[in-house]
Amino acid sequence: MKKLPLLGDITPAQFLRDYWHKKPLLIRQAIPAMQPLLSVDALARLASENFVESRLITKAGGNWDMQHGPIAALPARSQREWTLLVQGVNLVDAKADALLRQFRFIPDARLDDLMISVATDGGGVGPHFDSYDVFLLQAQGRRRWRISAQKDLSLVEGMPLKILQNFAVDEEFVLEPGDMLYLPPHYAHDGVAEGDCQTYSIGFRSPSYQELGEAFLQFMADSIDLPGRYADPALELSNKPAEIPKHMLATIAEEMNKVRFTEEDVTIFLGEYLSEPKHNVFFTGPTKPLTMGRFIDSVNKRGVALSLKTQMLYRGKHVFINGESFAVGRADKAVLEPLANQRALDGAALAGASDDVIEALYTWYQDGWLELK
Ligand code: SIN
Ligand code: CO
Repeated sequence: MKKLPLLGDITPAQFLRDYWHKKPLLIRQAIPAMQPLLSVDALARLASENFVESRLITKAGGNWDMQHGPIAALPARSQREWTLLVQGVNLVDAKADALLRQFRFIPDARLDDLMISVATDGGGVGPHFDSYDVFLLQAQGRRRWRISAQKDLSLVEGMPLKILQNFAVDEEFVLEPGDMLYLPPHYAHDGVAEGDCQTYSIGFRSPSYQELGEAFLQFMADSIDLPGRYADPALELSNKPAEIPKHMLATIAEEMNKVRFTEEDVTIFLGEYLSEPKHNVFFTGPTKPLTMGRFIDSVNKRGVALSLKTQMLYRGKHVFINGESFAVGRADKAVLEPLANQRALDGAALAGASDDVIEALYTWYQDGWLELK
């Protein structure tokens, strides 16, 4: 595999083998001539919307304060030590989406979002650790990163944000626009703005087993099939009416043990779970949707592209889109698999699509899950 300019001098395979989930990597000029994709005003507008997740962090006299969005107004640009964090910018901005997609050497199932932070001089979120891998790309101005491999991850109590009690710096670097720092999960770090700056965090997701287990049991509740009802024709007389009968317990335990799940159940669960949009994501379909006939004409001419907010995944014969799953045949899979991987298809690629696929595309178009190119 070719070296990826984004990773400096190494290939994605080398990155995965030597750094991913293992150790930090500093890449100078990962994106040469990097320019911020959005102005501070545009980010402030996003932070004022209730469908965008944002936080404003300020520090005054050593006291941290955190305000959750929507944020009506930012502090003055001349005020030091504040940071605005805007989550999921890729969901609302095509350039931010394109930047995030440069990291698709990691599967979509692991990619989370692009968060943009804006800070004035001295601004930051304090020494902390994250539970996820992250690429920290400097987009504008300079930020001093101090990092540590320390095992002591105890936090200061009673703080509105996670601040490490004892931060023992191992290394420090000043990142200029286009420089990027990769950090594995649980690596202590602190980034402080040197003058006004913008930093882009390319974040990943790794659900906890507890969270998955709870969601999986809910998913299974819809599909388990346990016929019959408890019966006790041989009920024995007891003088302890409050005691649960032994026969009842044994019979029901045996029946409950019949609850089984297959790898296919887990596949469908996981695809639906991972492709489910976040709670604040809303789709808007076209105000005047084309009729099916005109839609087909346009699709053949122009092709289609998934909406920035759409999550499309697949595994085997199962295709998942925005929390829904479909089992598809080989021919339909041959159309939907490239749509998921390329997130767009041109007209020619859709020429042989079955009626089922066209109908699904039309529904997705009406729901705002996909657009005409
Ligand atoms: C920031 O961009 O200010 C914070 C990002 C991080 O430390 O995870
Ligand atoms: Co962090």
